[in-house]
Amino acid sequence: MIPKEIIEEIRYRCDIEDVIGSYVTLKRAGSNRNGLCPFHSEKTPSFTVFPGTKSFYCFGCGAGGDVITFIQKMENLDYVAALEFLATRAGITIPNDPTPGGTPTVSRRRIYEMNLEAAKFFRAALFDPVLGKEAMSYLAGHRRLTGATIKRFGLGFAPNDFGMLTSHLKKAGYTESELIAGFLSKKSQRGTLFDLFRNRIIFPVIDTAGNIVAFGGRVMDDSKPKYLNSSDTPGFKKSRVLFGLNYAKDHCAEELILCEGYMDTIAMHAAGFENAVATLGTAITADHARLISRYTKRVIINYDSDEAGQKAADKAMQLLDEVGLPVRVLKLEGAKDADEFIKKFGADAFRSLLRSSSTAFDFKMDKILAKYNTSAAEGKIRAARELTALIAATYSGVERELYLSAAANKLGISVESLANDVKRARAKQVREARQKESRDLQLTVRNFGDRVNPDAAKDPAAAAAEEIILGLCLLFPEHRKLCAAGEIALSSSDFFTEFGRRVYEAIMEAERSENGFSFSQLGEHFSPDEMGRLVRLQQDRQHLQNNSKEVLQDAAKSLHALGAARQARAAGDWQSTLIARRAMLKKKKDGNEKN
Ligand code: CTP
Ligand code: MN
Repeated sequence: MIPKEIIEEIRYRCDIEDVIGSYVTLKRAGSNRNGLCPFHSEKTPSFTVFPGTKSFYCFGCGAGGDVITFIQKMENLDYVAALEFLATRAGITIPNDPTPGGTPTVSRRRIYEMNLEAAKFFRAALFDPVLGKEAMSYLAGHRRLTGATIKRFGLGFAPNDFGMLTSHLKKAGYTESELIAGFLSKKSQRGTLFDLFRNRIIFPVIDTAGNIVAFGGRVMDDSKPKYLNSSDTPGFKKSRVLFGLNYAKDHCAEELILCEGYMDTIAMHAAGFENAVATLGTAITADHARLISRYTKRVIINYDSDEAGQKAADKAMQLLDEVGLPVRVLKLEGAKDADEFIKKFGADAFRSLLRSSSTAFDFKMDKILAKYNTSAAEGKIRAARELTALIAATYSGVERELYLSAAANKLGISVESLANDVKRARAKQVREARQKESRDLQLTVRNFGDRVNPDAAKDPAAAAAEEIILGLCLLFPEHRKLCAAGEIALSSSDFFTEFGRRVYEAIMEAERSENGFSFSQLGEHFSPDEMGRLVRLQQDRQHLQNNSKEVLQDAAKSLHALGAARQARAAGDWQSTLIARRAMLKKKKDGNEKN
């Protein structure tokens, strides 16, 4: 366990507004701050940070909690790992205290240290004249990388051996569970550990804080798989990391180039385009899009010219549009990817290609126009139909205006007629989007409710009374005192829902403890989703006029009354069952007697 004083120190030093502000652009809204929720896609901000209560809540998806909950959700960590994460951020060292008996938790900090050690090992192997001979000639010869580039990206080589890295890291003090959790070693059927990366060129993946979070490994011939990538580990989620962003972040304030490959990124950086990044062998995700939006104003998509690449480009356009980033698309001709293009035609040709990149709209319009023969009426009509839908889906009115004239021009029809179609299609799309949004919202709220407090549906009146009590106790110390002192007659067994009972118990226990109650401490016992609910309970109460002792008393009373009624009903059911059974037996007996 992490000592209490340390937890307090972490909470004190990690200001919720600062921490969340480094992930989400926050705007002042009265005494609160709001922004676009990082946990679901939205265009109007429903994510709110309450500096007063040091909590956050999203009115759209129900996510909420304190600064620790936020990091748990954002970085996909458990409570202790989130504390470690924040401790590092605040420059606090958590004393090493191996949990006796418990399952050894693999800390993120250890994985990073281990990865650094592994990267050094891989680099030494690459620069070793014997071990790294073939690998070095592959990189310097075949791939034409300079020594400086190789060093800048920390490239390395995993020797063709089953145990070199594993035994090196064991000697350096890393445990088997750490090696496995970090995706460097694997356990064989016979129970011994072996190296996962073998005979491969190694690309370390470095996050924006400078930690080595993962590795990619490429074969040097045509064998399969071409790349091996770390799977998600305690310190690494593929969907949240971009290769090269550790360098690109200082060069991409205006514009960022998004590509598919390790080698493309490296080739672009080497040619002077240091604002290039790549996703790691996965399609771009909404998390990537949000990450990108924190660093740049617009994106140039530079995906392979094959069909898979173009499909991925469509997806990227959509996701980047959802976070409000304007997108342009690069069209590579005469080469399959950026690496090949630069090798063939040089950096200057690539620069002018960048300048001539088309807007996402032009890119899509060209694709539509290429599909049809627009010199004939039939083709013109079909193309117009698709272009109408495309323009109607554009959020900004100014953009729609511009696209209309461009499209009308290309098709050789009047702007007015196309504009009319767009107007109709737009109205329909907006209507449908609204319906979908409210449907989605209802679903999220309902599912969310079910997950956090599944018992609530069985007795909504009791659940409502519980919510009042818990909201008041979470918000007001005086109400907590009344309950803890027994001045309000209420015990956890009066609660109907299991969730309510647990929360009430935890609040009372904390209230009666030496250190007293603190909201953040609840995070130790409740999941991020549950923490979200606890914030909502407070929000619900906070805006009400009357939060007096009487409200608390009334709710406690109705909880008692509902409990008594439930018991009576249960007893009643039991009695009526008994009566029914007796009646049935009697009937049977009567029947028997008659025969
Ligand atoms: N990739 C992967 N696993 C594979 C194939 C590809 O993870 N089996 C990822 C890698 O990040 C790779 C990117 O997808 O960099 C693009 O793949 P591809 O175009 O096949 O490779 P290139 O990056 O062009 O690699 P190279 O130039 O070395 O052939
Ligand atoms: Mn390539």
